[in-house]
Amino acid sequence: MKKVIYQQFGNENVLEIVEAAVPTPEKDQLLVRVKAVSINPLDWKVYRGEMKLMSGSKFPKTLGIDFSGIVESIGSDITGFKAGDEVIGLVDVFKGGALADYVLVKATDLAPKPANISFEQAAALPVTGLSALQIIDELAAIRKGQEVLINGATGGIGLYAIQIAKKRGARVTAVAGTQGTALAKTGGADQVIDYTREDIRNTHQRFDTIIDLSTKMSFTAAKKLMKKKATFVTTLPSPLVLLQSVFNNLFSGKKLKVLILKPTAEKLNILSELAKKDLKIVLDKTYSFNEIRSAYKEAGKGKIIGKSVIVTD
Ligand SMILES: NC(=O)c1ccc[n+]([C@@H]2O[C@H](COP(=O)([O-])OP(=O)(O)OC[C@H]3O[C@@H](n4cnc5c(N)ncnc54)[C@H](OP(=O)(O)O)[C@@H]3O)[C@@H](O)[C@H]2O)c1
Repeated sequence: MKKVIYQQFGNENVLEIVEAAVPTPEKDQLLVRVKAVSINPLDWKVYRGEMKLMSGSKFPKTLGIDFSGIVESIGSDITGFKAGDEVIGLVDVFKGGALADYVLVKATDLAPKPANISFEQAAALPVTGLSALQIIDELAAIRKGQEVLINGATGGIGLYAIQIAKKRGARVTAVAGTQGTALAKTGGADQVIDYTREDIRNTHQRFDTIIDLSTKMSFTAAKKLMKKKATFVTTLPSPLVLLQSVFNNLFSGKKLKVLILKPTAEKLNILSELAKKDLKIVLDKTYSFNEIRSAYKEAGKGKIIGKSVIVTD
């Protein structure tokens, strides 16, 4: 089978496709024939060596976190899935390994693929969909009538975050680049701000929740836009920010929350159900396995609306 590996940290040119034996599942594992894999900013943060603390520095490393595919075979202890089932799933975010013809996973990292969406769309769900769910329902605990600002609203997490926040009854202000403003509106945002024309830091509005997906807004800047009791969510879990959140949250009504993605089978199933119903999945570009270097080079430049995916067969 083909799989993507790299032997050193660097830019996308370190990525290579190699031949490997198809693995055999242990009794608590499933072997999935991968159909499509999504591209996440976490991928390049890891292969560029920006997350060595979490990823370690042992080589070779593998790439690709979330995927869609078809169960090929199952270990003897597996119940709930059988060969031939269409699934979505994810592997350890810092180890990767989904960018391959086959991947080994635990049943808790899988959910049924909704029949109404394509394999390409399905691969675009797990990492960013779970991130959006965790932010909206756990970190920010968004409730009906709240004013929510989503900064970076038309990327992978953002488009799901708009839709899920609206489902919870919030009023959503979306900040996006020019190319994303129309989609933020059709995605359900009540108000859309083009960050290339207007600096959100100058607004007189005050919010119950601010979600920064751009990694460009500091807590200090966000505090000026927050109501007295409000929550700011960042997706950058640096040791300093984690420490700051502990001390800040003891004394201030303006809370700092940090996303550290914690996937669960339950949440993956909720996501699968949402996609079965009406969750819109927006794909930007679709690449073939042989195009991995150009795919990651392009994705790393930003300006992606929704998600880009790599089709493996
Ligand atoms: N901590 C965790 O567990 C965890 C889990 C998942 C993801 N993450 C991180 O969360 C972040 C968001 O993930 P994602 O998949 O949604 O990334 P993404 O698809 O790259 O989305 C980021 C968005 O931010 C926008 N943006 C860039 N500069 C901006 C600015 N100055 N003002 C407002 N918006 C701006 C981008 O728009 P343009 O089109 O203009 O580029 C893009 O739409 C990434 O850094 C990712 O690594 C963390």
